[in-house]
Amino acid sequence: MPSVHLMQSARIHRHGDPSVIRVDDVPVPVPGSGEVLIRVEANSFNPTETALRSGFLAELFPVELPYALGWDVAGTVDGDPVIGWLDGGAASEFAVAPADRLVAAPTTIPLAEAAALPLAGLTAWQTVEDITAGERVLVNGAGGGIGGFAVQLAKHAGAHVIATASARSAEAVRGYGADEIIDYRTTPLDAAGPVDVVINLVPVASETLFPLLDKGGRVISATTPVPADGRHVLARNDPAQLAELVRLVDQGVLRVGVTGSHPLTGLAEVHRASEAGLVHGKVVIRPASPR
Ligand SMILES: NC(=O)c1ccc[n+]([C@@H]2O[C@H](COP(=O)([O-])OP(=O)(O)OC[C@H]3O[C@@H](n4cnc5c(N)ncnc54)[C@H](OP(=O)(O)O)[C@@H]3O)[C@@H](O)[C@H]2O)c1
Repeated sequence: MPSVHLMQSARIHRHGDPSVIRVDDVPVPVPGSGEVLIRVEANSFNPTETALRSGFLAELFPVELPYALGWDVAGTVDGDPVIGWLDGGAASEFAVAPADRLVAAPTTIPLAEAAALPLAGLTAWQTVEDITAGERVLVNGAGGGIGGFAVQLAKHAGAHVIATASARSAEAVRGYGADEIIDYRTTPLDAAGPVDVVINLVPVASETLFPLLDKGGRVISATTPVPADGRHVLARNDPAQLAELVRLVDQGVLRVGVTGSHPLTGLAEVHRASEAGLVHGKVVIRPASPR
């Protein structure tokens, strides 16, 4: 009988609180047609995964159980460093993916940190893509994983960026280039004055955002649904755009901030911390060295 190689994979067998996350020994996946095997260097955590784990998303994104967690991946394919956004399974020692979902990793930052880029970077890109030079842009939720990229991409587009961030994230957000920072814990949002665009990355009621706009301004939200005169973003997995983000990283335009690194066995704790509002910025999850 051929020997089966095992690996560790963080999976859920049912929906529920973070204790449903188990690190299982499972066979190393075998790539199908058009797929490749990735030796995972890191996965990055996205808070939406807590909603998938809990079952809150079960209607919108039904998954087959057991489900291997982890959407963002950085790793190597035949020794070549790659990153990508997978449908799951990145919180594992190995993962498979369609080859055309993956792009060459940035060469100027550590591979594990590059795991922070795909989902948050693409969501930020697709949120700010119609911003033009000179616009006053309020990034609400700049302290989060998407927010850090959104501030930088809006600045790169030539916008004047006002960012909401609490004390723990203010320095990082300033480092990303925000021109003004509003501490949302102490200061009302209208301190920003009228703005041309609100980029909303926080689950607040959209009625609170429209009064912040100057005449003709627009609300772009990656969270709360917005009325027809706003734009709601549901991020798309777009490898060509991801390659553009990698180019910006390697040009020194886009910084990838990582605020923490945890082993696979710490993933349940990261979910707990995220649900308690204790995670800020991007954290990466690293499997043990593959056997
Ligand atoms: N539409 C899509 O396709 C899509 C894709 C991915 C994610 N999302 C959603 O987008 C949102 C942001 O994602 P993320 O990955 O950036 O989340 P995240 O990293 O977990 O963001 C957490 C940050 O939100 C900030 N925050 C919390 N309450 C706030 C408030 N009232 N005002 C301003 N900032 C506040 C905090 O900043 P401080 O550190 O400054 O306190 C915190 O660091 C999530 O709701 C996520 O589910 C949507």
